[in-house]
Amino acid sequence: MKIIVYGARVDEIAYFDQWAAKTGHQLSVHEELLDAHTVEWAQGFDGINCLQTTPYSPAVFEKMAAYGIHYLTIRNVGTDNIDFPAAKRAGVRIANVPAYSPSAIAEFSLTLTLNLLRRLGEVERTLATGDFNGAGQFIGKELGQLTVGIVGAGRIGQAAMKLFHGFGAKVLAFDPHPQSTLPCEYVGLEELLHRADVVDLHVPGIAENDHMLDAAALAAMKPGAVLINTARGNLIDTTAMIAALQSGHLGGAGIDTYENETAAILTAQKTGRFTDPQWEELSQMPNVILTPHIAYHTETAVRNMVEFSLENLVSFVATGQAPDEVGPHE
Ligand code: NAD
Ligand code: COI
Repeated sequence: MKIIVYGARVDEIAYFDQWAAKTGHQLSVHEELLDAHTVEWAQGFDGINCLQTTPYSPAVFEKMAAYGIHYLTIRNVGTDNIDFPAAKRAGVRIANVPAYSPSAIAEFSLTLTLNLLRRLGEVERTLATGDFNGAGQFIGKELGQLTVGIVGAGRIGQAAMKLFHGFGAKVLAFDPHPQSTLPCEYVGLEELLHRADVVDLHVPGIAENDHMLDAAALAAMKPGAVLINTARGNLIDTTAMIAALQSGHLGGAGIDTYENETAAILTAQKTGRFTDPQWEELSQMPNVILTPHIAYHTETAVRNMVEFSLENLVSFVATGQAPDEVGPHE
């Protein structure tokens, strides 16, 4: 089978090579993202494998159909950047990797939380000025004394629940489809925001969830609470979050998934620099941690992303079915 791979990241290369050697399938691996131009390289291949947060547009699917390519498998979880109606019109079927390692993302949310609770950003900045005594004055909070609100108790949310519970925190959860048997109290979103010292987001970035943390929701949060987002940037109204941080109502924020990420990535493709005014503003705040969408980035996760997504593609091409086929809102 001939497979073309887009969006290959440096840590994935060894896993692609190992998989090709093990299975005998032919891989053509490209670091460029899949778009209306690069899709032209796919002519003559049996299927496309990809990883990106930039859009999978109608033009991509139309060209795939014109080349007789019916299958796209993505190496990640989130499907918010896929135009599913356009894929359906073009007869393109898609699979994601729904669970390559929920713990990877949950552990990262915990890492951001602990860092913010112990105010390490403020400590580091003060220490950098040579003020050892001053840097020792940022008193922290203990997770085991706090209430953590998990918004979205799916695979990653439940993995996060387990970790926070293990640290002794009281865990609240909000999810319209409660399914966890873990020790937590399911409550409505408003109550969660009102009671939680840490609000940790794990819902998909589908249109319905756009700005679920808007100015009103941020105002409903407990004063001094911290907000963690390793899910998708569009969940938070960034302008409102900056205002809440500036007023001191929000005690801190850990942002791995940033609202204007896609636009800034597309700009960076042309200029070589990831810049955005609100990103710059947030990066100046000592109680904010910004990370470049790396919550997933562990050895276990990356190996599984490569292997599971390629297995989905082989299955699609060989049988017309894939275990992880997705449609809208999955
Ligand atoms: P999942 O489908 O297992 O769980 C999502 C849960 O959110 C479901 O239980 C669903 O009922 C719930 N939900 C949906 N809308 C909601 C709402 N408005 N309020 C409350 N709950 C709601 O998905 P998952 O594997 O846990 O992944 C969650 C998200 O994490 C993905 O969609 C993706 O965007 C993000 N993610 C980020 C990274 C990263 O590296 N930062 C890596 C993987 C996944
Ligand atoms: C996901 O799996 O949905 C992620 O956010 C990971 C990222 C590399 C796209």
